[in-house]
Amino acid sequence: MKIDGIPYRSIWLKDDGWSVGIIDQTRLPHEFRIERLTTLGDAAHAIKAMLVRGAPLIGATAAYGICLGLRADTGDAALENMSETLIATRPTAVNLRWAIRAMRELLLPLSEAERVSAAYEKAAQICDEDVAINSAIGDHGLEVFRQIWEAKGKTGKLNILTHCNAGWLATVDWGTALSPIYKAHDAGIPVHVWVDETRPRNQGAHLTCWELGKHGVDHTLIVDNVGGHLMQHGLVDLCITGTDRTTAAGDVCNKVGTYLKALAAKDNNVPFYVALPGPTIDWEFEDGVKDIPIEIRDGHEVDYIQGLDRTGAVSEVRILPEESGSANYAFDVTPARLVTGLITERGVAEASKEGLARLYGQSVYKA
Ligand code: MRU
Repeated sequence: MKIDGIPYRSIWLKDDGWSVGIIDQTRLPHEFRIERLTTLGDAAHAIKAMLVRGAPLIGATAAYGICLGLRADTGDAALENMSETLIATRPTAVNLRWAIRAMRELLLPLSEAERVSAAYEKAAQICDEDVAINSAIGDHGLEVFRQIWEAKGKTGKLNILTHCNAGWLATVDWGTALSPIYKAHDAGIPVHVWVDETRPRNQGAHLTCWELGKHGVDHTLIVDNVGGHLMQHGLVDLCITGTDRTTAAGDVCNKVGTYLKALAAKDNNVPFYVALPGPTIDWEFEDGVKDIPIEIRDGHEVDYIQGLDRTGAVSEVRILPEESGSANYAFDVTPARLVTGLITERGVAEASKEGLARLYGQSVYKA
């Protein structure tokens, strides 16, 4: 995507041919800062501290993390250690495991001398594939949006509600949930996006608003509990979110709060779509509520709100009494029965075992 006319991906190989560029997403929207990753430790830190985040981008960063680690040691034991270090960074997004598995399966049979260059090739391939997948999701999603827009009689705006950030910053490019939004906007459909703030880290406010603004897409920030009210009043034509892990039966794990939006959508007959790249399907699990590990993060993120103070400096303020505690569950699971459709790179699937099997059959995406 372009920022002020300059095309960017969220991760790239630097001109030196080995180090890796990323955008520090903890600084947005206040500062556009590029960081350089040079070691496996840098990559692991970037994922854990959420300089990069979003399921597909976590996977791509892990792949480049292995490249950087192999520059220091190409042995089997080192490769195993790198995989463990990276897998320990964040538990929920399955793309991390998928990318590491793809790297290990390619690299382990190779001689040590061949590993570094093969790893860089594979990491670049994972990134390019992610871009192609997300662009295809955008094309299929555009058709869904067009149908809803036509059913609405093409009046007013197509009002879309989204949660968290499933835009190009969460992937290598295009995004998943935002990809059809960009394509609809570019195709002349007058979209307006309700952006859930997405407490506690505010990916909606910080990242989705920033992305949409840079692309000229009309949008309005809302706090997380407003969606139900908007839906009751006919102000949402459809919801679309991303996913960090979708089970083989179509249960969707995404940023905490997604489930409540899906419940409100069901109650108000608002279509609830999930944009799903193939590598985000976990074929080993069926029951998302029971099986998917939910990340529990530091309560500090709940206890303090971050923003710019009057001097323009980034600062944080505490919002609860010193003696009170908090819990910080980062994801929740939306059961398949609440999902209208899964918009994948292969077309729109019913959120069910049969629906996914029909599109993917013998899938190459195994975590
Ligand atoms: O905690 P985050 O910011 O990594 O969570 C991101 C999300 O929940 C996204 O919706 C998901 O990864 C899909 S991104 C295309």
